Amino acid sequence: MPPSVGDLATPALIVDLDRVEANLRRVQAYADAQGVDLRPHVKTHKTPRFARAQLDGGAVGLCVAKLGEAEAFADAGFDDLVMPHTVATADKAARAVALAQRVRFAIGVDHPAQVAVLAAAAEGAARRLDVRLEVDTGAGRGGAPAEAVADLARRVRDAAGLRLAGVYTYEGYTYEARDRDELVARHDAAQVALLEVAATARPFADGAFAVSVGSTPSALAEVPLRPGITETRPGTYVFDDLTQARWAGGLEHAAAHVLATVVSVLPGRAVLDAGSKTLTSDRRPVQDGHGWLVDHRLPVVRLSEEHGVVEGPGVERLRVGERVRVLMNHVCPVANLFAELHLVREDVVVGVVPVAARGRLT
Ligand SMILES: Cc1ncc(COP(=O)(O)O)c(C=O)c1O
Repeated sequence: MPPSVGDLATPALIVDLDRVEANLRRVQAYADAQGVDLRPHVKTHKTPRFARAQLDGGAVGLCVAKLGEAEAFADAGFDDLVMPHTVATADKAARAVALAQRVRFAIGVDHPAQVAVLAAAAEGAARRLDVRLEVDTGAGRGGAPAEAVADLARRVRDAAGLRLAGVYTYEGYTYEARDRDELVARHDAAQVALLEVAATARPFADGAFAVSVGSTPSALAEVPLRPGITETRPGTYVFDDLTQARWAGGLEHAAAHVLATVVSVLPGRAVLDAGSKTLTSDRRPVQDGHGWLVDHRLPVVRLSEEHGVVEGPGVERLRVGERVRVLMNHVCPVANLFAELHLVREDVVVGVVPVAARGRLT
């Protein structure tokens, strides 16, 4: 008999394959309808099995968050990797250049000092390192201001070992939009800003040039993309989570849950064997609490490292020893905490895969 979900030791991260497959089809269809490349961000699953499924479904390549993640995916046989993040030191620049000798690899920059360190590392390399310019369109995180783009583009062009390969922005602030109209408006403003800097930067490029946007809310809300945008980079959509539910259209699209056990039921509360070392304390912009018991409609209201406290109407009806599925606020850091994902269809565990790139933070 194949093991059932009820046989798993908890806490476990369970992934519903039917839902993943539907999520992948949905976002691929969005990219296709918009006529852009889908380059999913693998920071959510960190797992070759799902990266392969994304590529088989039509994605052109992958995004990675860190060099270590890129190396893990290159080791697993993946070829076309973009890191929409940057490096600032010679050791990491050398690793970026080494990656570009093994696979197609592009890295982000938003500061002349990064260009200098990458240019020095790439000097004399057999294959040039592709560089994309990150532009800030309102996130206030990484990303050069528009007026710095021409200078950065020129510096990349003038470095013999580098090739200017595109521009990108991460419009993460759209997560806070009140509704779809606001999401579309904010995203559209980001596209307009990015297209402007793309026009500035493109003359310094040779060969393929990406104009890249993307987040899960924009893909799920099917935000129209303007002509000239070539690529979208959502990541979280593979699993979805509590934060994405309002863009996904409900909790039933969420494919990953923490399976936890009720270890105690006390007056007014129940206690789970999953705390901040499982669910993380990430709240993301729109969530109260630390997770949601989807089958009981109850919130996890407090966490310590190994305890999750559930409160709310009917909480006493939970039974000690009962398994519960917890939908987390933000799935990406949760997946990073687990050594493996348990793959399920209905209640049957059909496979276990290692989270190959977990903890690859450098
Ligand atoms: C640069 C960049 N691109 C794409 C993504 C994917 O966005 P999402 O988490 O909304 O799927 C992220 C997420 O952190 C990101 O930082």
